Parts: sequence; C-alpha cells; structure tokens
Amino acid sequence: MTSYPTLQRKLTTAPRTWLITGVAGFIGSNLLEALLRLDQHVVGLDNFATGHQRNLDEVQREVTAEQWARFRFIAGDIRNPSDCRMSCAGVDHVLHQAALGSVPRSIDDPVATNATNIDGFLNMLIAARDCRVKSFVYAASSSTYGDHPGLPKVEDVIGKPLSPYAVTKYVNELYAEVFARTYGFASIGLRYFNVFGKRQDPNGAYAAVIPRWIAAMINGEDVFINGDGESSRDFCFIENTVQANLLAATTADESARNQVYNIAVGERTTLNQLFAALKDSLSNSGISYSRPPVYRDFRPGDVRHSLADIGKARKLLAYAPQFDIRAGIERAMPWYVDFLRSAQPLKRHTA
Ligand SMILES: NC(=O)c1ccc[n+]([C@@H]2O[C@H](COP(=O)([O-])OP(=O)(O)OC[C@H]3O[C@@H](n4cnc5c(N)ncnc54)[C@H](O)[C@@H]3O)[C@@H](O)[C@H]2O)c1
Repeated sequence: MTSYPTLQRKLTTAPRTWLITGVAGFIGSNLLEALLRLDQHVVGLDNFATGHQRNLDEVQREVTAEQWARFRFIAGDIRNPSDCRMSCAGVDHVLHQAALGSVPRSIDDPVATNATNIDGFLNMLIAARDCRVKSFVYAASSSTYGDHPGLPKVEDVIGKPLSPYAVTKYVNELYAEVFARTYGFASIGLRYFNVFGKRQDPNGAYAAVIPRWIAAMINGEDVFINGDGESSRDFCFIENTVQANLLAATTADESARNQVYNIAVGERTTLNQLFAALKDSLSNSGISYSRPPVYRDFRPGDVRHSLADIGKARKLLAYAPQFDIRAGIERAMPWYVDFLRSAQPLKRHTA
C-alpha cells in the first residue's frame, strides 16, 4: 500500500491524465488544484449548475502557468451521454464529483436531483467503461446511512434513505456494484461526511452549514440552528477528501476496488460545538460575533447523528486524515474572510 506522501512523489515523476466531473464546484476545484500542483494533466467537465467560473479562476491564480496549461475544460452536462464520452476519451482516472447536492434541494425538486445524480451517473459509468479508464472513483455520501441509528457508521450496515438525495447516492452504489458484476468494471465509492473548506459556496438557499454560518457571522446576521443543536456530524476538511480520492484512484490493490469507503475524520462535533468553534476562529481573525444562535425546527430529511468508522479506508487505501475539524476551520477561515468581505459591497448593492 502506498502512503499519501509517497503517492504524491510518484505522481509528480510520472504524470497521468485525470477527468474531474463537477470541476467548477467546491470539491472538484480543490481536486483540480491538488492535481495541477502535482503536475498532472486534467480534463474538467461542468455545466455550472452549482459550480462557478470564479472557482476555476482562483485555481488558475494558485498554480503556475505551466501547470494551468495542463488543464482542459469542457463545458458540458453529464445528463448528455456524448459529453460524458468526449470527456472520458484518453483519460486514466475519473474522479466523478458532478451531482446536485443538498437534501433540501432534493426534497424541493426530486426530478432534477434524480436526472443528474442517477441518469448522469449512469452515463458516466458507461462512458468510463467504454473508454477503458484505469479507475473510476465517485462521490458517494454518508446520507446512505439513512435512518440506521448505529454509531459509528460502518460501510456494510445502512438504513433506509431519508431523502430523494440519499436515494440517488445509494442507487449510485448499486449501479457501481452491478457494473463490476456484469461488465467487470470495478469502481470505488467514497462516502463523504460533511466536507468543508475553501470555495464551498456560502451563498444560496442550499448552502452547507459551515459556509452558511461563517457568512452569517461575518455579515452580522442571525445563525439558525435546526433543532436543539445537539445533532452531530463528522466534519471532514477538504484536504482529507482530496487525499482519499488520489489514494483510491491509484490503488494497485484489486481487493480495494469495487468497494465503498467512509471518508471522514472519525470525530463527532455537535452543531452547538461547531457554532462555538467558528465563533472562536473568527475572533482570531479579529471579527467578534456576539449574537446567540437562533434555534428552530429540525429539518426534514436530516439525520440526527453522523460519525464515521474510517477503519476500512485506513486499512485498504492507507487513508490517514491529516486535519481535524479545528485545524480545518483554521485553514479555511482566512479564505472565507477574504471572500465574504470582498463580496459584501456587491451583496449590499443588490439586496
Ligand atoms: N460537500 C459535501 O459535504 C458532500 C458530502 C457528501 C457527498 N458530496 C458529493 O460530492 C460531490 C461534490 O459536491 P460539492 O460539495 O463539491 O458540490 P458542488 O455543488 O460545489 O459541486 C458540484 C459540481 O457539479 C456540477 N454539476 C452539477 N450538475 C451537473 C451536470 N448535470 N453536468 C455537469 N456538471 C454538473 C456543478 O455545477 C458543480 O460544479 C457531489 O457528488 C456531492 O453529492 C458532497
């Protein structure tokens, strides 16, 4: 098994070609940045449904001109099979991130979520199989644990889905497994647990909790907690997620394929603790937030507690998360402060 630092060195000396779907999104753009920094060739596919050109522009600023020249962007849609085929041509590794995220979005519009997350996923599997890519790693989700109360979550014990989004992510896993059985095309699913970090969108009705709360604190607005604040999550800093993707895509161990893995830290943080941690971190950046949180009803579709057992990824992929939630927040906060402060005049003008 290859450790992450060893893998990074190996990739730099023998570059490969990668496809990232959803490259203009939060996780996709962080994967892009990491791969370009390792001098890889990257094809990126996105339709900007929830991603942004500004994320790609920022990656361009973060890497050298030579590294950026190794990136080719395709404006396309995974619901369109020919866009998927075109993107997979000549690619070694696929990191499939494109999807419509968010439980509430899927409750508001299950048809749209289904079309991208299931039809689009199937199109990508077929294209990757037909192009004979070396590996296919896809973004699965902790939402697949659904109503199963057991903690920590272990990969083979799941409950019933609590939202249309969770259904789509579970169907992805079923298709992935059936493609291994019927076509011998083995892939790897990474069940992400609440990923956070720079470029995660703080705006919009479906923003995730960490960027949404940071934005509210910086803008001096109320922070809303759904429920009593004792719901908990295993928050995972983006660098850990990037590590898991690279290790999964390049594993030489056949028994590590055709599997799903929890990708998290293995630590549980309540929403009340998260509120305090974000407030502390902001005060280190010289911003004080003094309002108490505003508690409101639990949100339909949300799971109560989430905590991952990451033993399987540790054992089979050599996954070793390097950042706990506090370290992740400290790294992400300066980006949010810059991003939200520079966005503020525009926001006021359009409000
Ligand atoms: N962020 C998390 O905590 C988390 C947790 C579990 C799973 N995931 C999964 O990880 C993946 C990435 O999530 P993210 O947080 O970066 O979300 P994101 O919304 O920032 O990124 C998704 C990207 O996919 C693109 N996209 C959407 N529909 C598309 C389509 N039809 N064709 C092409 N591109 C399309 C979007 O424009 C966007 O750039 C998703 O599959 C999501 O379900 C994320």
